[in-house]
Amino acid sequence: MLRTICYVSTAAPSLDENGLADLYEEAIQKNTEQNITGILLYSDGNFMQIMEGEAAPLLKLYNSIDNDVRHHHLIKLTDREIKQRIFENYANGFTIVNNEQEVFKLNLYLNWLKENFEGNVQRLVEIVQPFLKYT
Ligand SMILES: Cc1cc2nc3c(=O)[nH]c(=O)nc-3n(C[C@H](O)[C@H](O)[C@H](O)COP(=O)(O)O)c2cc1C
Repeated sequence: MLRTICYVSTAAPSLDENGLADLYEEAIQKNTEQNITGILLYSDGNFMQIMEGEAAPLLKLYNSIDNDVRHHHLIKLTDREIKQRIFENYANGFTIVNNEQEVFKLNLYLNWLKENFEGNVQRLVEIVQPFLKYT
């Protein structure tokens, strides 16, 4: 059973560029091992992450992330079953957003959310859109 989780959070003030680079490396390596796909965006002291994978490892990862002191104020925006991944065939599957192709994938994800779900999706789009300006 595949799931996707999307959240936003506020980075700890102590997290500098080296700390960020370490975090990215850790995330990419572990996610590749666990077959977790998605993206992690950082902009102006905030994170936005989309993760896709088998439910059990995904929820375990989200719990670790939720307890991580390198950020706080986590807001879970989406936690749903999915039929297929959006990020699976891209690069190593897990990406730090910094180019147009990645922005394109993110837009695909947002459009998929808009088409498939009602309710808070518009709010999600409003939250995520500002991140795209910086990429
Ligand atoms: C913003 C943010 C995003 C993170 N994303 C991931 C991730 O995608 N994959 C991952 O393995 N760890 C990620 N981490 C690190 C985890 O919180 C945790 O440190 C790591 O999974 C190791 O956990 P463990 O010691 O329980 O194995 C992230 C941390 C932060 C602060």
